[in-house]
Amino acid sequence: MNGNRARVDARDKVMGAPLFAADRVPDGLAHAALATATIDRGRIAALDTARAEAVPGVRLVLTRLGEDELRTAGFLMAGGYAFQSFQPLTSDRIAYRGQPVALVVADDPVAATHAAELVEARYEAEPHAVRIDDPGATVVLQQEAIPLPFLADVVVGDADAELAKAEVRVEAVYEHPSQNSAPMELIGAVVQWRGDTLVVHEGTQNAASIRHGLAHQLGIDAERVEVVSPYTGGGFGQKNSLQPHIGPLAIAARRLGRPVKLVLTRPQVFHQASFRPVSRHRISLGADASGRLLAAVHEADQQTSRHDLFPATFTEVTSRLYGVPAFRGRQRLVQTDVQTPGYMRAPFEHPGAWAMECAVDELAHAAGADPVELRLANDTTHDPVTGKPFSSRHVAECLQRGAELFGWAKRRPEPAQWIASDGSQVGWGVAIGAYPAASTPAVARAVAYPDGRVGVEVDGHEMGQGIRSAITLLVADLMGVPANRVTVGLGDTRVATQHLTAGSWGTSSALPAVHAAILKLRETLGGRRPTGAPVAVSASNGLPEPLQERARAGQVALAGPVWDDFVAYSFIAHFVEVRVAAGTRRIRVPRVVSVADCGRVASPVTAASQVRGGVVWGLGAALREGLEVDERYGGFVNATLEEYPVTVNADVARIDVEFIDRPDPLLNPVGVKGLGEVSMVGVAAAASNAIFHATGRRVRRLPITIADLL
Ligand code: MOS
Repeated sequence: MNGNRARVDARDKVMGAPLFAADRVPDGLAHAALATATIDRGRIAALDTARAEAVPGVRLVLTRLGEDELRTAGFLMAGGYAFQSFQPLTSDRIAYRGQPVALVVADDPVAATHAAELVEARYEAEPHAVRIDDPGATVVLQQEAIPLPFLADVVVGDADAELAKAEVRVEAVYEHPSQNSAPMELIGAVVQWRGDTLVVHEGTQNAASIRHGLAHQLGIDAERVEVVSPYTGGGFGQKNSLQPHIGPLAIAARRLGRPVKLVLTRPQVFHQASFRPVSRHRISLGADASGRLLAAVHEADQQTSRHDLFPATFTEVTSRLYGVPAFRGRQRLVQTDVQTPGYMRAPFEHPGAWAMECAVDELAHAAGADPVELRLANDTTHDPVTGKPFSSRHVAECLQRGAELFGWAKRRPEPAQWIASDGSQVGWGVAIGAYPAASTPAVARAVAYPDGRVGVEVDGHEMGQGIRSAITLLVADLMGVPANRVTVGLGDTRVATQHLTAGSWGTSSALPAVHAAILKLRETLGGRRPTGAPVAVSASNGLPEPLQERARAGQVALAGPVWDDFVAYSFIAHFVEVRVAAGTRRIRVPRVVSVADCGRVASPVTAASQVRGGVVWGLGAALREGLEVDERYGGFVNATLEEYPVTVNADVARIDVEFIDRPDPLLNPVGVKGLGEVSMVGVAAAASNAIFHATGRRVRRLPITIADLL
């Protein structure tokens, strides 16, 4: 480990040392599998479990739990604890294809899987809608359906009147498909009772929601639920709350008096966990002859489920990319027969900025302006929505430094004019991204040991993003000890609340708490090591007590991005080169340059990886990923990693990453903003814009494939 370049758990991970949830093998472990619905909507008329029960080794087949035995945990965004309010196995309702209809538990996983396939269900099917344009889909205006201030449409000035006066105008509709987070670690849990305490091992971003949600579902005290999740194998929003399989597993474990393990198959993850919903964006931009924006309209439709209104906040970010004096947002939700969709890395910022930044490219083309120059000309120091200053905003530096690194000055402005020596068409595209800098309550406990070690326990989940490294480096720096003398406890309800880690607020919420605790520890120690007993202190990150109270109760508790005196966002600029092959029209991406403004860079190695990961995701969205809906039966046709192609090494060539690395003066004492999600925002637009530059084809639907360029 060398100073501030450490990635502290790298060696352990390479050696396979960390235990993920499914790695736990308690004595007497039984294995579960699910039988799932083959219709999209209707009721279960009859269930025959006799053949399943006859399989040797089968111990239990659960088909129906009383609503008092397993209450609904409620929808996370409506005061509940789960990714959806609908709880399978508590009624005869089928709300989506792939919904569990039976949980089978056996001595080994083969018997459980085999038996689950033998559960026979007869259904009464009802008409269903799976596409946002299907006749049975129900459209609601979000701000009327969910009257919460932060979900109201952003409206500044009279955008329509300004548009009518504009010298240059573009208007276009952009269609984004549904996608699945597809984290490497499948969703699953090992659940066991230790006396009357329920112990849950599950890879999660929100151990507190599992604890309090299960307590609510099972009618037990939250003190009797422990959730242990020190490492999560990728979450990306899909693991942000209680999953519906854990309650039934807990009941099965109690009935059998044995620990029970369930790991969803990959197709089950596609059908039973949250996903990025379909969205459609109509963007209208008006500018003066030089390309200075006068007005923007962003009307978005987003898919949701029948049972929950998954709220959209597209216009929160698209209204803040530039200093646009007039903006009108309008967001609608379209109810279809699916499991409730949810947050997937840059849930609104990526699709919203893709649409907006493609439209800005169209505007630059229409105005005959350079896309970088046009963006610089529309930069702002103040939030155009509230009029407050940004806490920090280095968009111009991101664009200027990125252009320099990329060699943008050599770009030929006209599209479809640049042919490489191998005959491929070359295109360069640019786009920016922004992501709200929110914070959540975090409490840290710091301990100094007589032998010089320092331990920190804090709210936060390590899901591959490197929060453990960021915390370790800060502690090592403040205590003047090597990083290998620092231990960090995370993701475990026995050491802290473990409120939701998401929204790119993990590091910026945990570090200020750790910072405060370490300063307090240093003061307590007075420059000396403890003699005898270790010395421990605690401190919070200082968010208001009512928010901390909500977090302790396992509910979403958020502050920002609009604060009293400023508005806080992270920013980024991406530059993408594409090459479109002459005959096959295959699209390749030889290089990407990304320059990020995330405040102070807390951990350089993991931060650069975060940005590369975000770029890879953005390229996946631009060129690969999209769920294919089965109109006949509901569900998704390509629910495997063979048929849902995510970007792999062969798709990604060179990604150069730089940071502005200037501490945010206002947001928190450590000066960090978020990074994980902003890294993805704008990548797909830069790639789409590069494809236009290469080919002269404007494709307004993702993913862009060979078929679009033939
Ligand atoms: Mo993230 S999509 O907020 O986990």
